[in-house]
Amino acid sequence: MHKDFIYLDNAATSWPKPDAVGDAMSDFLRTKAGNPGRGGHYLARQASEVVEAAREKLSKLINAPDTKRVVLTQGCTDSLNLAIHGVVRAAMKCCCPESKIHVVTTAIEHNAVLRTLFCFAGDGLLDLDIVPCDEHGIMEPHAIADACNDRTVLVAVSHASNVLGTIQPIKEIAEAIRACCPDVLFMVDAAQTAGHFEIDVQRDDIDLITIAGHKGLRGPTGTGALYVGPRAFPDSCTNTRLFCERRGGTGSTAPGLEMPKDLPDALEAGTANAVGFAGLIAAMDTLNEATHEHEMTLTKQILDGLVKIQGVRVYGKPTIEGRMPVVLFNIEGYCARDAGALFDKDHHIAVRGGLHCAPELHNAIGTYLDGGVRVSPGSATTAQQIERFIDAVRIIASS
Ligand code: ALA
Repeated sequence: MHKDFIYLDNAATSWPKPDAVGDAMSDFLRTKAGNPGRGGHYLARQASEVVEAAREKLSKLINAPDTKRVVLTQGCTDSLNLAIHGVVRAAMKCCCPESKIHVVTTAIEHNAVLRTLFCFAGDGLLDLDIVPCDEHGIMEPHAIADACNDRTVLVAVSHASNVLGTIQPIKEIAEAIRACCPDVLFMVDAAQTAGHFEIDVQRDDIDLITIAGHKGLRGPTGTGALYVGPRAFPDSCTNTRLFCERRGGTGSTAPGLEMPKDLPDALEAGTANAVGFAGLIAAMDTLNEATHEHEMTLTKQILDGLVKIQGVRVYGKPTIEGRMPVVLFNIEGYCARDAGALFDKDHHIAVRGGLHCAPELHNAIGTYLDGGVRVSPGSATTAQQIERFIDAVRIIASS
């Protein structure tokens, strides 16, 4: 790594991870690495304790009504696949053949949502509505509610755009949906926001929420969670609206060929990434409000610096209100991927140029197909590094 390397791609994954993450993972591998939930011996018990401690911590993070409603996954895309396939398959089983089920989503979504839904819509198995956003990437709650009908089974909305950093009015969206379709399942993709913002599934009436361990929570890749609320999976474990296609061992007492009926085992087949969750616990122990404030101060510095440079266009909200520490821009005369490569090669600065796996959003703001350059500071970024980044933009823009 170059001695002056600057990492500004925290929206892709946070880096550097707190030292405690590597230490906890190394300690786990040396002293706790049995198979969690499998066998009653010392190492298996140690591993189980780690996995259950991670579940507990994630449950508190989102104010889940019951820890068992937090299903541990391999990441946010894994959680989204589990939720979308689960809800769609369960609804298709109940729906009469002549009336197709309907799902509503938004133009700000990541491909983890869009492609997963399109895998059914493309085969004509469901009707999909993608509600447009405004030029700042903000969703209008009533536009989402208006797209719902009596066949709608799921509304999927990102808490924040991974491209523009725009935060959505989740509570207002939930209220608008509930006013017209009280039983529809409301899913929030919190890939970009978990660890940055308070999330409360009970206050905001969210049925399903998907979390990445490696972004704002600063844990290792390969960790994530899916919260499953009572509307989707009643306490009685009957009439569940989430069918799990994934089958396998769970470690719990389960004679016969059926999966266990209750959460989290019903949705957790196979050995958990216990070493990853050991790292995630350590990462979450380091989270504090000062970190987010620091990142937002740097975001303001980026916005203030970029608007002063001729030939630079910044997208999304002009201020830091209602946004994440993420800024998208373009430099006149440069395709975003080429500009990204120049930051890397000539200035040793890591940014992400392109479409950021969110093509509909780029379509909405007029940056499809070239995309934009995304810069996202993190907890370890300094004001001096942002100054160097702004200098690099100035050099590229004037050459
Ligand atoms: N979803 C990640 C991003 O936004 C990878 O870059």
